[in-house]
Amino acid sequence: MSETALPAQANPTLEAEITAALGARSIVLVGMMGAGKSTIGRRLAARLHLPFSDADTEIEAAASMSIPDIFETHGEAYFRNGEARVIARLLDNGPAVIATGGGAFMREETRDRIREKAISIWLRADAEIIMRRVRRRADRPLLQTENPEATVSRLLEQREPVYQNADLTIASRDVPHDRIVDECLAALGVRLCGTRVAIQETIDQTTDGFSATP
Ligand code: S3P
Repeated sequence: MSETALPAQANPTLEAEITAALGARSIVLVGMMGAGKSTIGRRLAARLHLPFSDADTEIEAAASMSIPDIFETHGEAYFRNGEARVIARLLDNGPAVIATGGGAFMREETRDRIREKAISIWLRADAEIIMRRVRRRADRPLLQTENPEATVSRLLEQREPVYQNADLTIASRDVPHDRIVDECLAALGVRLCGTRVAIQETIDQTTDGFSATP
């Protein structure tokens, strides 16, 4: 299915109300590696007819280097500074849906900017799901350790209390992507448009997507 096609659950009213309420603000996805920020972000952007940006891809383009090469050549501190600059630039060009790298929200300055210019969603995933997903790829420098499981546990311990500061939290799990996207849209509807649209969304869902209203 093309990313711009409307899935069965699409609720144009909810989606239009969310984009109207956002104005110039963006939606920023935060959370651990493997939480699905890019996958869900891309689909969420398509549903809202907003541009999608992946901060990691933007950093690689700005540096003309892959993330593992940036870490190896310049070190993590250099990467983090570039990451903060790239996210600041993306936030200045909203509205968009922005997927951030797993460590970006740990920087206070970036959290403050996100709070000012966006609505943040924490895609919360447990250690088991993260491990299952990150094992497939070797492009995460922080996980090139003797014991990646222990590294993920330690990072979760450090990061979850900070991720909790996101405006919204959605559980990332092994269900169809569109279900997670629908949950993001419902949570955004409540947050940005109040309960009216969210209640309509519930009615639409309980009537198999056929709205009772004209
Ligand atoms: C990192 C996550 C990565 C990437 C870099 C560091 C982290 O992004 O930014 O390898 O600190 O958690 P993803 O979360 O998209 O994998």
